[in-house]
Amino acid sequence: MWIYEKKLEYPARVSSTNPRLAKDVITQYGGPDGELAASLRYLTQRYTMPIPQAKAVLTDIGTEELAHMEIVATLVYNLIRNATVEQIKAAGLDPYYADHDKALYFVNAAGAPWTATYIQSKGDPIADLHEDMAAEQKARATYEYLINLSDDPDVTDTLRFLREREIVHFQRFGETLNLVHDWMSSKKVFY
Ligand SMILES: [Fe+2]
Repeated sequence: MWIYEKKLEYPARVSSTNPRLAKDVITQYGGPDGELAASLRYLTQRYTMPIPQAKAVLTDIGTEELAHMEIVATLVYNLIRNATVEQIKAAGLDPYYADHDKALYFVNAAGAPWTATYIQSKGDPIADLHEDMAAEQKARATYEYLINLSDDPDVTDTLRFLREREIVHFQRFGETLNLVHDWMSSKKVFY
């Protein structure tokens, strides 16, 4: 079970209405390397991890990614909530508006909807942990591209926080991979 804390893990302030930036940032909501994909990937893979420490790390990080999904949703909504239809059209966000108004939906920056094919759950802890480490690096790279695209200092500040967390997660998955390797060698199972 989860206990909900009614605050964001990090502030999601924006300097001004900016639907163009919202169109880019939304990829970390519903894109291939975004927070929905990360949280669902880890919270699903945890069942087949062979040692308690690995289950715990996947649960912890999967939970934190849900909190990051909430931060990204808040950023996107704050960027579009006061936008006029003219601003939305000028930003090229009108196809999204036609389907969703200003509601949050899981799409990438090009508007393609989220799909479970973004993630894998292989039943093999070595394969899954390697996927998780790669996922963290891809998320880090995406946050760097979004920081390059951002013309809003408040949004940039939040994106920097999220980027740093991906680095921490990558390191924790690396430690977990070593623990699983140790467990396997003690069991005389070779990969
Ligand atoms: Fe992460």
